[in-house]
Amino acid sequence: MTTVLTDRDRLKRDDWPDGTFYREPRFVTHADDAFLARLTELYDELLEPGDRVLDAMSSWVSHLPATDFDRVVGHGLNEAELAANDRLDEFVVQDLNSEQALPFADDAFDAVCCALSVQYLQYPGPVFAEFARVLAPDGVLVVSFSNRMFPTKAVRAWRVASMDERADLVERYLKAGGLTVADRLAERSETDPFYAVVGRTPPGHGGD
Ligand SMILES: C[S@@+](CC[C@H](N)C(=O)[O-])C[C@H]1O[C@@H](n2cnc3c(N)ncnc32)[C@H](O)[C@@H]1O
Repeated sequence: MTTVLTDRDRLKRDDWPDGTFYREPRFVTHADDAFLARLTELYDELLEPGDRVLDAMSSWVSHLPATDFDRVVGHGLNEAELAANDRLDEFVVQDLNSEQALPFADDAFDAVCCALSVQYLQYPGPVFAEFARVLAPDGVLVVSFSNRMFPTKAVRAWRVASMDERADLVERYLKAGGLTVADRLAERSETDPFYAVVGRTPPGHGGD
């Protein structure tokens, strides 16, 4: 597997286990209303009724449209936030910087969403390989981000990068995981800029 980040790239100012930082719930939103509305619109374009959806690195809100999905599974670090998320059918708590293997079968999802959180991953190559593994063939991955972060918890590679360099980094994460980059959005605004990288698993992936 390709190593995307060096040991220096993955340094965090606060290197305590992430569970410590996320122990108390934060019932806030991490981008402005325009960003979140744009994200819901993008999900509405890319996700279909009946999809099985994984909201990775989730919280109390998933930003999903009112589509009738088959199943929505949340993953994150704070149990109280995930329990309060009424869009989720079920959830798991797992620190991806300690353990990258996801507790889901191959091809378990049609869509994986990762909103406003990718900057906290220290081992993105293995995590994105897991996103690819749990996605069905031609599944979609939507990674969205803006210019906000918890600076003590974001990896060095993210902190020192410009917004366009961050999008390049996310593209490298997708490719390291075996996904194809299908689209890249960079919509600047006076408030929170809207960035997203959309990936796809190859049509024939999985199976044997
Ligand atoms: C800024 S919040 C964004 C939450 C949510 N996706 C949203 O859009 O509101 C960052 C989230 O990343 C998740 N996170 C951070 N570090 C993590 C880690 N090491 N393993 C798993 N999840 C992590 C936490 O669950 C936290 O809620």
